[in-house]
Amino acid sequence: MQIPDIIIAIDGYSSTGKSSFAKIIANEFSFLYLDSGALYRGVTLYAIENGYIDDANVIDVEGLDRALDDVDLHFGAEGAYIGDRCIEKEIRSMAVASKVSPIATVPEVRNFVDRKLREFGAKKRVVMDGRDIGTTVFPDAELKIFMTADPLVRAQRRAAEMKAKGENADIEAVLRNLQERDYIDSHREASPLSKADDAIVLDNSTMTMEDQMVWLKKIISERFGC
Ligand code: DC
Repeated sequence: MQIPDIIIAIDGYSSTGKSSFAKIIANEFSFLYLDSGALYRGVTLYAIENGYIDDANVIDVEGLDRALDDVDLHFGAEGAYIGDRCIEKEIRSMAVASKVSPIATVPEVRNFVDRKLREFGAKKRVVMDGRDIGTTVFPDAELKIFMTADPLVRAQRRAAEMKAKGENADIEAVLRNLQERDYIDSHREASPLSKADDAIVLDNSTMTMEDQMVWLKKIISERFGC
C-alpha cells in the first residue's frame, strides 16, 4: 500500500499499545517513528539524576528549565539518548514511570519536547505517539487515532511485558500506576490528554495487532484513496 506524505498522530491512554502499533505502522509504510513519551521519560530521568525532582515529586521548575537548554536528548539507533548515553532501559523503569506524569505537567518541559517533536516531524511521513500529538503538537495531522482499552487488559499486557524483560510486575501496582497516570495526564492544565475532534477512536481491548492493522488500512484506503 502506497500512502501519501502525511503525519499520523496516535494519542491515547497509558499502555494501550500506542508505541507497538506506531512501530508496526512505521515499518509497514516506511515512515519515521517518533515516541514522544520517550522524550518526557528522558527529561524525567535527567530530573531524577540531577536532583530537579524530589521524593515527594516537588519539582525545581526554574532549575530544570535552565538545565534543559544544555540537554542533548535525541533518538538514535537504539532508541532515546542523552548525548552518547543510550537511556532506553532506564526510562522504562518504574522509578521513571512514577514521576513522568508530574514532570509532563510542567509547561516549560512541554515546550522543550514540543519543539523537538516539531523539528523531527517537519518532513512528514512520520507516525508519532503520545497524549497531545493530534491536539497540540500537530493539530493539522492528516490522520489522528485515539487509542483506548479496558484498564485491566492494559495492566495485564504491561505486566506481561515487564515480566518478559525480567522485571518485577505486581499487577495491582501496574494498574494503580496507569490509572494514576491517566488521571494526571487527563486533568493537567497544559495540553491535557484529550481526543481531538477529528480523531478516530480505536478501542483495542479485544483486538490483536493484526486486527488493528486491518482496521487502519481500511481507514487509510477510504480516506486517501490508496
Ligand atoms: O507514552 P508513555 O507512557 O511512554 O508516556 C509517558 C508519560 O509522558 C505519560 O504518562 C504522559 C507523558 N506524555 C505526555 O504528557 N504527552 C505526550 N505527548 C506523551 C507522553
